[in-house]
Amino acid sequence: MAANMKQAEVRDKRVFTRVDFNVPMDESLRITDETRIRAALPTIRYLRENGAKVILASHLGRPKGGFEMKLSLAPAAAALGRLIGSPVIMAPDCVGAKTAELAAALLPGEVMLLENLRFHPEEEKNDPDFARELASLADIYVNDAFGSAHRAHASTEGIAAYLPSYAGLLMEKELNFLGNALNAPDRPFVAVLGGAKVKDKIAVVENLLTKVDALIIGGGMAYTFLKAKGYGVGLSLLDEERLAFAAEVLRQGEEKNMQILLPVDVVTAAAISADAPTSVKSVSEIGEAEMALDIGPETVRIFTAAVRTARTVLWNGPMGVFEIDAFAAGTNAIAEAMAACAGVTVVGGGDSAAAVEKAGLTDKMTHVSTGGGASLEFLEGKILPGVAALK
Ligand code: 3PG
Repeated sequence: MAANMKQAEVRDKRVFTRVDFNVPMDESLRITDETRIRAALPTIRYLRENGAKVILASHLGRPKGGFEMKLSLAPAAAALGRLIGSPVIMAPDCVGAKTAELAAALLPGEVMLLENLRFHPEEEKNDPDFARELASLADIYVNDAFGSAHRAHASTEGIAAYLPSYAGLLMEKELNFLGNALNAPDRPFVAVLGGAKVKDKIAVVENLLTKVDALIIGGGMAYTFLKAKGYGVGLSLLDEERLAFAAEVLRQGEEKNMQILLPVDVVTAAAISADAPTSVKSVSEIGEAEMALDIGPETVRIFTAAVRTARTVLWNGPMGVFEIDAFAAGTNAIAEAMAACAGVTVVGGGDSAAAVEKAGLTDKMTHVSTGGGASLEFLEGKILPGVAALK
C-alpha cells in the first residue's frame, strides 16, 4: 500500500498534487460534470488546512502536443475556486520560468492550478527531464488522480522518482473500496458487467471468474454469450471472434458451479433511435432484422433480485443503450437495485457512474469510482503504474 499523505509533514511545503480534472465540457467551455473536481476536494482541503502550498496538476482531453484554447484548464480553476471559496491561481503553463516563479511565491493555504500537462508531449512520453522539471516546483508529491493511475506518464509515474511521494485521500479511498470489493468481499459477491464490447471486458471477466459467486452479463456484450449458447441474435452487437471465449467462460462457470446470468428477454428495435418502435422479446425470438438494445422486464426481475440480496456488488457497464430513454430501463433498474442493496455497492467509473448520476442515486452507493479506464484495469487485476510508483 502506498504511503498516506497524512504521514507527510506538509506545513509550509509546496505539494505537487496530481489530480484528474479531465472533465467533460460543452462547446462554450462550460464544465458539464464537476464530479472529478469535487472528488479532489478532501485532499485539497486537507492540504490547505494544514498549511501546505498547493500546486495542482492535471491533463484535460488529448491535445496534439501544444497549447489548445479549448483544452485549457482555466475553467477548472474557476470551478475549483467557487467550490473552495477562495481564488485559484491559474498558471500559464505547467513548466517554465513564469510557472516556477509563481510556485516559489505561493503562500501556505494558497492553491495554484498548472496548465494542461499534455500541452507538452513529454508528459505522455514519461520524459525524465520533464518529470524532473515538474518535481522542481515542489517539495512533496501527492497523487490523487486515480482516474489517471493506469497511465505511466511524467506526472503520474516519472515524478515519483524525484520527490517523497504519497497517495492522496481520493486515491486511497478508490484503492480501498475497489480493492476490498475485489479481494475481501462479503459474500455472496455479485458482479454486474455490461457495455458494448466483449473485447474491452475479457481480462475483467477472467479475473472476476476467480472471485465472484455470481456473474451477471448484460449490455451489448451479452449477445456474444447468447450466440455462444446457440441463440440467434439478429442485428444485435456480436463479436464473432470472441464466441470461443464466451463459450469457454460459460463452460468454466458450469465447472465451478458459479451462476452466470444472461438476459432471458430483451427490448428490441430495428434501429438505435429514440423514436424507433420497440418490442419485448424472449431471447429465443429475436428476429433477423432487429437488434436487442436493452434487457427485458423478466431479466430485470432476475438480475435485480440477485443484486438486492448480495452482500457485495460490483458494477461496470450499462445494460443497454441507456442514453436513449426507451433503452434505459435495464440500466436504471440495476442502479435502483444497488441503491436498495444493504451490502457494499461499488460502481466502476465511466458509463455506469454516469448512469447512476443520471438516476440521482450516486449518494446511495457505497462507492462510485472516478476512474473509467483506471477502474477497468484495476478490476482486471493489473498493478496500476501510478500506484506502483508510490510504493
Ligand atoms: C480518463 O478520463 O479515463 C482519464 O482521465 C485518463 O484519460 P486518458 O484516457 O486520455 O489517458
